[in-house]
Amino acid sequence: MDLMDELRSIGKEFKVELEGVGSTSGLDALRVKYLGKKGLVSQKFKLMGTASPEEKKSLGKALNELKVMAEGAIEARKAELRDEELRQAIKAESLDTTLPGKGPRMGRLHPVNQILHRITGIFTSMGFGVEEGPEVESDFYNFEALNIPKNHPARDMQDTFYVSEDVVLRTHTSPVQIRAMKKLAPPFRIIAPGKVYRHDADISHTPMFHQVEGLMVGEDITFGHLKGILETFIHTYFGPDIPVRFRPSFFPFTEPSAEVDMGCIFCKGSGCRICKSTGWIEILGAGMVNPKVFQYVDVDPERYTGFAFGMGVERIAMLTYGIDDIRMLFENDIRFLSQF
Ligand code: DAH
Repeated sequence: MDLMDELRSIGKEFKVELEGVGSTSGLDALRVKYLGKKGLVSQKFKLMGTASPEEKKSLGKALNELKVMAEGAIEARKAELRDEELRQAIKAESLDTTLPGKGPRMGRLHPVNQILHRITGIFTSMGFGVEEGPEVESDFYNFEALNIPKNHPARDMQDTFYVSEDVVLRTHTSPVQIRAMKKLAPPFRIIAPGKVYRHDADISHTPMFHQVEGLMVGEDITFGHLKGILETFIHTYFGPDIPVRFRPSFFPFTEPSAEVDMGCIFCKGSGCRICKSTGWIEILGAGMVNPKVFQYVDVDPERYTGFAFGMGVERIAMLTYGIDDIRMLFENDIRFLSQF
């Protein structure tokens, strides 16, 4: 093969190889292979020394053309590859600022607290203030001043969590009645929402649950006021057409005492599993403040009368949402809680 043909085939091969180069480092290797000191093109320049003058002219021209072509092609390809590599790098690092963000998951009130807020709202709208008392309570406030004597069944070791001989976890919110009467001068009306504790656990009892206590004291407060307030509460909470009835009952701190039933909201009175076929659901205890209780807190029973009531919040939550096992409320299963 003559030299000129050889140069042409070197040129062709170079172009083919250049096509296949995919990176700047590959391109550098190609440059060394053809244009480096010992490169294929450079080697041919050495033949110049042995060529005849005529040959020299055309060989020199052809070699130069080949060299210039290779250098130019390498530079052009290098620019292309740099652009491409830059584009890839930008693409890999790119951030789509138009994608919607990941918002924090919103928390919400526990269903029992939601119900507690609803109940509280109804009573505050009727002028009741809100009082609180400690969950660790003295025997005096929890029992004694509420006319619950030492041998009363409510003090049974089965029910009460004793902290010490004279200190208990309050078994009801009624001790806040005593605290309120010591703190406030009649006339006043308050509710006392909060946690209470009893040693009891089954489908309808948990060792901790919530109550809302109510107390209204003034001159000439009658059982009629009690009925009016509680009927208004029940009609506001459950609906205006729900029948309400007061049944005689007994609590040491009220006289007379009553339990309050409302018509079953599930069967509308025709009888079902939830109302045990009676058509009625008990939701409250209530009564007129026992004058003996007034004596413990230095309220004059000749001048003042009052009414009190107490209700279980979980029970009302269960009726509201149709929950049949109270323990569900405290298992903290997010799938259950997030439904409310
Ligand atoms: N303290 C009672 C209980 O826990 C509920 C109760 C009944 C509260 C009658 C009252 C009331 O204020 O008048 O079972």
